[in-house]
Amino acid sequence: MGENQIEEIRSFWNRVADDWRTQVGDSGDTNRRFNSDPVLWAFAGNVKGLSVLDAGCGTGYLSNELSDRGARVIGVDLSPRMIDLARASYPDLDFQLSSCSDLSFLDNNRVDLIVSNYVLMDTPDLLGALNEFNRVLKTGGHAVLIFSHPCFPQGKSSDLKEDDGLVYHWDFSYFEQRKNIDPPWGHFNSDFIWFHRPLSDYWKAFTSTGFQVVDFEEPRITEDRYALVENEATLKSCRIRPCSVAFKLLKSKNG
Ligand SMILES: C[S@@+](CC[C@H](N)C(=O)[O-])C[C@H]1O[C@@H](n2cnc3c(N)ncnc32)[C@H](O)[C@@H]1O
Repeated sequence: MGENQIEEIRSFWNRVADDWRTQVGDSGDTNRRFNSDPVLWAFAGNVKGLSVLDAGCGTGYLSNELSDRGARVIGVDLSPRMIDLARASYPDLDFQLSSCSDLSFLDNNRVDLIVSNYVLMDTPDLLGALNEFNRVLKTGGHAVLIFSHPCFPQGKSSDLKEDDGLVYHWDFSYFEQRKNIDPPWGHFNSDFIWFHRPLSDYWKAFTSTGFQVVDFEEPRITEDRYALVENEATLKSCRIRPCSVAFKLLKSKNG
């Protein structure tokens, strides 16, 4: 990955870090809490006593939740501002400033579990990150990877309709891997940089870096949680829009 590209991503996340803290707080935003967290915890299983890497930890709230469940957590992120915020909020946890595609501070076969929550669509170097995930994971260990659904982009690409409809606008080929810049959304002031890749490219990247895909889900709200959602528009969005994909990968042998 070019140093310029990683610098661009680092400075983008430094810019939005404080607003990101507002977005996720101490327990995640609506999408995480109602849609993807239940899948994340189901895929992760019992983390008590496990050594867990929170890859792309951002402001560290998930690292803290993993720690509350008894895991020994290392959070890593490439943005210094994110790491500063994480350390300030959760001073007892171990946060490291580094890119996922250079985890040289960790030995081979070091961690039992990797959790990466909404990061892979944000990294320019997917294969570099996955190779490092495979290297630092113990044989028999799992990686739980949640990222924005590449088939149903958010931001400028979609409008909710009055009925149960959703209109998507594509201004490029779905099959083309490319960097995107979306205008600010919600309370953010900055454009958002992310990387589109077809779903099948993710799958091929997982298997080509030595992982076996053992589970896959498109997280969605379950009916028993409808009453918890704060307003109708959010509930509607949760009900009809697939925000993310969740993969559970196994490192079945040393690469
Ligand atoms: C959408 S935020 C998610 C943060 C956190 N996982 C959460 O759920 O709130 C994406 C995070 O990934 C980090 N990131 C992007 N590419 C990265 C890379 N190659 N290595 C480490 N962190 C990366 C960004 O700095 C940012 O903190």
